[in-house]
Amino acid sequence: MNIDKKMALISVVGSGHVGLVWACCMADKGHEVIVSERDLEKLKRLNQGALPFYEPGLAQLMSDALTKAKLTFTSRTSEAITKSEISFVAVGTPSDHVGRIDLSQIKSASIEIAKALGKAEFYHVVVVRSSVTPGTTVNLIKPTLERISGKRVGRNFGLAVQPEFLREGSAIHDVLHPDRVVIGACDTKAMNKLRKFYHAFHESKVPILEVSPTAAEMIKLASNAFLATRISFINEIANICQQLQDVDIVDVAKGMGLDKRIGLTYLNAGLGFGGSCLPKDLRLLITESNRLGYFPPLLKSTLRVNELQPLQTVRIAKQELGTLAGKKITILGSSFKPNTDDIRESPSLKLIELLLRSGAKITIYDPVSLEKANRILGKKVVYASSVRSGLRDADCCILATEWPEFKGLRPKEFASLMRTPLLIDARRIYSPDKYMRYLRYRAPGLSERTQNC
Ligand code: UGA
Repeated sequence: MNIDKKMALISVVGSGHVGLVWACCMADKGHEVIVSERDLEKLKRLNQGALPFYEPGLAQLMSDALTKAKLTFTSRTSEAITKSEISFVAVGTPSDHVGRIDLSQIKSASIEIAKALGKAEFYHVVVVRSSVTPGTTVNLIKPTLERISGKRVGRNFGLAVQPEFLREGSAIHDVLHPDRVVIGACDTKAMNKLRKFYHAFHESKVPILEVSPTAAEMIKLASNAFLATRISFINEIANICQQLQDVDIVDVAKGMGLDKRIGLTYLNAGLGFGGSCLPKDLRLLITESNRLGYFPPLLKSTLRVNELQPLQTVRIAKQELGTLAGKKITILGSSFKPNTDDIRESPSLKLIELLLRSGAKITIYDPVSLEKANRILGKKVVYASSVRSGLRDADCCILATEWPEFKGLRPKEFASLMRTPLLIDARRIYSPDKYMRYLRYRAPGLSERTQNC
């Protein structure tokens, strides 16, 4: 076997978002990919072609790869490793609410891989794709692989960290067209192999940054922490704008973002950030930093601003409705962002909990995540089968996730269906001037009072 060949035999350990999207994209490019998954129920569904989560375009990609026999699944990690030349480790690294990371899946995957490496007759490269605490590859994965396999990194097998930067909802695009590939290899041979692999995969169009393994791990956490900081920053500015006269945060963000040093992305104010990555990685970085003896005030504030941000929308609802007790509030969107059914740390769900505590009666509608929302909220809320049925007789509607289907809703539709035509646009997708003509339109970062100059 020779991974320098254009098409390689590849294994992926773990079939979460990163693992499965990568596996399908590599299979689509013509590689033969074998995915190992320990959860037998999940494995059974994967073999039947069923995706464990919603990601646009992935069902088709997986079905094509299965039909062409470019993609297979197994429960045995050792089989995947011995059959392949390069393995990508993409197992889950969950953390608790204070940011303590659970590396048990990384540990057990390392043990399984090491056992297979012990028997391997060829040079094999192990690539860590999971997000981990800086230092994990050098201090935990490398010694585990060497001790159990009885072999040496650089001599018998290669080891590298290559963080993943894909976003849920646009994962296939992000895998195929990344801004950069970051590789932190423990040995030169692995670096050379991966450089060739990625040059071929991206047709030499994507810059490759070569750094130390720990720097690669840090780049991942720092990138997510920076994106989170931008969001909290703009939310803080939005909260100030709201106290001023005749200011809209959307104008302010645009005016800032057109400065090339600042840029326009991750400056959408509203409800704050959620999902399984930004909050988790931020907490992990804070916890790790504390452990190392540095107490990071900026990162802590980023998290704090985000925790408080849904309260701004509750405040607007209370200003408009007085008491929320008994009021029917319709929430559009329950996923943490559009184009995903992921509700982990969803700002929408945080908002709903706050509104429920104030006595509001909540109806929610989301194009794909209602089933998952139901598992958390149960009978505490009503689930609408369409936007229109959800809006009927509502005292207030809060746009909490900017799904494309909501962007097409016209102001007259809100006004004709609702009991009180009050729309709070917490993701800032509608034009205030247009919507204010037909209904009471409020939004975080949009000052209430206007003044003629
Ligand atoms: C994030 C990073 O963007 C990816 O680069 C990274 O690979 C991934 O985490 C990961 O670590 O696996 P993701 O969690 O899919 O990706 O979501 P984002 O698109 O970054 O959005 C995160 C949250 O921020 C969402 O709740 C979104 O609504 C919110 N957001 C985003 C804002 O409130 N304002 C913005 O301007 C942008």
